[in-house]
Amino acid sequence: MSKKTTIAVIGCGRIANGAHFPAFSRMKNLRVKYACDLIEEKAKRACADYPFIEQAITDYHIALADEEVEAVYVLTPNYAHYTVTMDALRAGKHVFCEKPVTVNYALSCEMAEEAQKRGLILNIGVCNRYQASVVKLAEMYKEGVFGNLYHVYCSFRSFRSIPGLGGDFTTKSQSGGGVLIDWGVHFLDLILYILGGVKLKTVTCDTYCEMAKDMKAYRYETMWAEDTANIENGTNDVDDFVTGYIRTDKASISFNGAWAQNIKQNEMFIDFLGDKCGARLTYCGKFELYDAKTLETIKPEYDIPDMYQCESEAFIESVNTGVKNRSNIADVLESAKLLDALYASADRRAEIAL
Ligand SMILES: NC(=O)c1ccc[n+]([C@@H]2O[C@H](COP(=O)([O-])OP(=O)(O)OC[C@H]3O[C@@H](n4cnc5c(N)ncnc54)[C@H](O)[C@@H]3O)[C@@H](O)[C@H]2O)c1
Repeated sequence: MSKKTTIAVIGCGRIANGAHFPAFSRMKNLRVKYACDLIEEKAKRACADYPFIEQAITDYHIALADEEVEAVYVLTPNYAHYTVTMDALRAGKHVFCEKPVTVNYALSCEMAEEAQKRGLILNIGVCNRYQASVVKLAEMYKEGVFGNLYHVYCSFRSFRSIPGLGGDFTTKSQSGGGVLIDWGVHFLDLILYILGGVKLKTVTCDTYCEMAKDMKAYRYETMWAEDTANIENGTNDVDDFVTGYIRTDKASISFNGAWAQNIKQNEMFIDFLGDKCGARLTYCGKFELYDAKTLETIKPEYDIPDMYQCESEAFIESVNTGVKNRSNIADVLESAKLLDALYASADRRAEIAL
């Protein structure tokens, strides 16, 4: 049997329980020695729900001091990505850190430099790069199926989805931003991935914080991450709506995103507009192709394996071989740079050249 890689998981919240622990349960080459959370009950619950996890701890330094631990998963809120990742790298551990890299580009670069200096793998949770539809579209783009792919448009808009209002999600100093950094990061990163080696030229962006200016007056049906909300005494200083335009040396990109809007429709898709062919990708789902010659709509048949398992298999392979893969920090910095530039453009209310 092949060697098992020993890991520790830091942060046992929604993404750990909803995506990573289930993926680990299907992977035969992992030993999960620690589940760590500041909230002891969450670490203990992880061990109870996933009996393959050996120990519950509340101080991640215990895992970092353990020589058996080769790699750690940083699944904490955005504000802790930098500190926990840097501590782990300095302790000689390989790191998988959830998206976004951290709250801004400058700190993201420091994380990349630390990993590079120490010869360690640092991967970021840009899971859509492993989504089967995205992989296929990237291949089709390379093969020239779209002809001249001149524009990509994406919409990540929801009727009511502001997460944890007043808590860390809506506090810029802790999250880095709102719907752009939280949802937009996935859409824009996967577009940059499909375009491949794209050079960013200019960006322009506007952000709005309108729907819960008065947090107590915000009406919603359900609230995602409600356990982190602090409507009475918290902060909401991030974008709940964003719109922007990006010029590159390849296709131009435009987008609209809303955590909340007074349009009762959710729109989560990406349109790839080529002169020979177009494609609409339903986010996390499949795509349809529209052929310019035949005017046919083509719905390819294929399976979509769990992207979280695919990204973890790739990470563990990287840890064991030392070979960097598609979600290595070095390849993800460009989308972190793009997010920073978009927020800077919104702050200055002006176009920015990169
Ligand atoms: N890739 C994706 O599709 C995806 C989806 C959702 C969330 N995320 C990202 O995952 C991260 C976590 O999001 P979440 O929704 O799971 O948050 P969450 O609040 O549900 O869970 C985070 C957990 O980390 C713990 N924590 C915080 N600081 C810690 C520390 N120093 N040591 C140990 N534990 C600590 C918290 O107590 C909490 O239980 C965020 O960065 C988010 O952007 C990614």
